Amino acid sequence: MANESLSKAKEAKNDEFYTQYHDIEKEVAAYLEYNPDVFRGKTVLLPCDDPEWSNFTKYFAQNFETFGLKKLISTSYAPESKKYKYGYQPTLFETEAPHFDADKSKTHGKIFILDHDVTGDGRINVEDLQWQYLEGDGDFRSPEICKLRDQADFIITNPPFSLFREFLAWIIEADKQFLTLGNMNAVSYKEVFPLIKDNKIWLGVVSGAKEYFIPTGGVKKMGNTCWFTNIDHGRRHQSLSLMTMADNLKFSRHKEIQGRNEYIHYENFDAIEVPFTDAIPYDFDGIMGVPKSFLDKYSPEQFEIIGCAEGDSGKELGLKPFPRELKKLNPSLRDGQLYYIDEDGIPQKPYARILIRIKQ
Ligand SMILES: C[S@@+](CC[C@H](N)C(=O)[O-])C[C@H]1O[C@@H](n2cnc3c(N)ncnc32)[C@H](O)[C@@H]1O
Repeated sequence: MANESLSKAKEAKNDEFYTQYHDIEKEVAAYLEYNPDVFRGKTVLLPCDDPEWSNFTKYFAQNFETFGLKKLISTSYAPESKKYKYGYQPTLFETEAPHFDADKSKTHGKIFILDHDVTGDGRINVEDLQWQYLEGDGDFRSPEICKLRDQADFIITNPPFSLFREFLAWIIEADKQFLTLGNMNAVSYKEVFPLIKDNKIWLGVVSGAKEYFIPTGGVKKMGNTCWFTNIDHGRRHQSLSLMTMADNLKFSRHKEIQGRNEYIHYENFDAIEVPFTDAIPYDFDGIMGVPKSFLDKYSPEQFEIIGCAEGDSGKELGLKPFPRELKKLNPSLRDGQLYYIDEDGIPQKPYARILIRIKQ
């Protein structure tokens, strides 16, 4: 029980980290490069934000005219609803506003809207943002925020990772275009992988940000985040340049491949083990198991995704159960996961693999 509440506290704390301006700028630039009019005439909603200091709000507000936006809306979550309390203080921006309300400031979310020139300087930018308290706490699942979602063309944010599954489902059910940060591990969630496999969603261009601000000051390093999206970009239409199987076996820069007679074949599924994306042999027409990071390079014109070799998905794909006597040699074997027998006769389980095939 103590462990459970500790991990809940950690999870809540882990939801409070804030994206840096240049990480947003780098990623969004790639969509604009592919289609300069991607946001023209559109309404963008930034939920799960803290607009007074969110870089998402700052970035989209500053670029309102350049992008040709019709409307920008961002919403924040009430400090008292946050699971992790870090000594909330309203900003001067809020306390100096005539409609500041000390109670609502803690219990209500806020909405910021930008759609016209308020200051009269002839430009629409961050200075023209207008804000109000929301009726509720700004929970993205509340009817109030669902209504804003339904009006929007794009949903863009870094959501709480502990609610990532729900957040993505919330976007998909409304059939919206989106760009969101998430943990790379989410690619194999049963709610996420089928969407990737069917090319309904894909990874972004820059593989996640490495550092995020935390509310108590300083930065948090996170090596495993990535962007998820259904906005088209150029990288996913670029084919990977690959070698033949024979050349890989001769010249691969990976010692696990170079010098072998052949690629390792799994024992419980008709596919070969390819532990590095750049070691995919382009002349092999069978199924290959590749690391999840392959998705960073995935082009739907070049590859077909067959499935995810993990747990129930692996079982559904037809991975054969391992013979129970092998458990003595490798206690980590699991049904639904791939394994092969190494040169010493020991069953080995590779890291989580995605099964793919080259499109012929
Ligand atoms: C990872 S932080 C990112 C904040 C901001 N989007 C950014 O990137 O700088 C996620 C934010 O979502 C808020 N949040 C947590 N649960 C929420 C919920 N159910 N509805 C809306 N926001 C929520 C957290 O308090 C936190 O401020």
